[in-house]
Amino acid sequence: MTARGRFIAFEGVDGCGKTTQVRRVAEARGAVSTFEPGDTELGASLRSIALDPVAEMTPLAEVLVMAADRAQHVTQVIEPALAAGHDVVCDRFSGSTLAYQGFGRGVALDDVRRIVEVAACGLAPDVTILLDCPPEVARERRKGRAVDRFESSDPAFATRVREGFLAIAASSVTWRVVDATQSLESVASAVDAAIASALS
Ligand code: TYD
Repeated sequence: MTARGRFIAFEGVDGCGKTTQVRRVAEARGAVSTFEPGDTELGASLRSIALDPVAEMTPLAEVLVMAADRAQHVTQVIEPALAAGHDVVCDRFSGSTLAYQGFGRGVALDDVRRIVEVAACGLAPDVTILLDCPPEVARERRKGRAVDRFESSDPAFATRVREGFLAIAASSVTWRVVDATQSLESVASAVDAAIASALS
């Protein structure tokens, strides 16, 4: 029987450097690299709705759109890869919905928790790496990129999201926090050490 793959998620505010680390870790492990929202055919449509800067959407509707994306993604991409023995590295997972829609938008955390648990079909990452970074540093790194609905939100929103991520990390044994303001090399080695210790 093939050993099940390991599921590694990366979380953090926009501009924290997640994408670079996701690519690097996935390549080093020969893992499937994927992301949320948007890495299925249905997900691509949901992503453009969710990120449209002019879309009118209630916070609860936002949770449900992210949840629909996750349900499709878990069933169609993540779970089959893990079952086939591949490691999966995912750019954002349930932690993002808790941090952005729960802590950021103010949807009741218990409601968000229930919804994301159902949407993830019982799947939870073996380890989640939080690339922690103050919103000012992240904003500086994002300069020149197109702005979506979340990035155009006010600075207080970004602060709530960051603090939300830190609160989730503090209450979960599978999360590891890495200081993302360090040099690229230091972040990379801290990420590798955190994954190795969490998966050992
Ligand atoms: P992402 O693709 O990581 O951003 P980028 O386009 O900068 O690489 O995520 C897109 C946005 O979606 C990001 O601002 C965070 C937001 N998001 C949520 O609000 N809730 C969620 O559950 C997820 C997965 C993402």
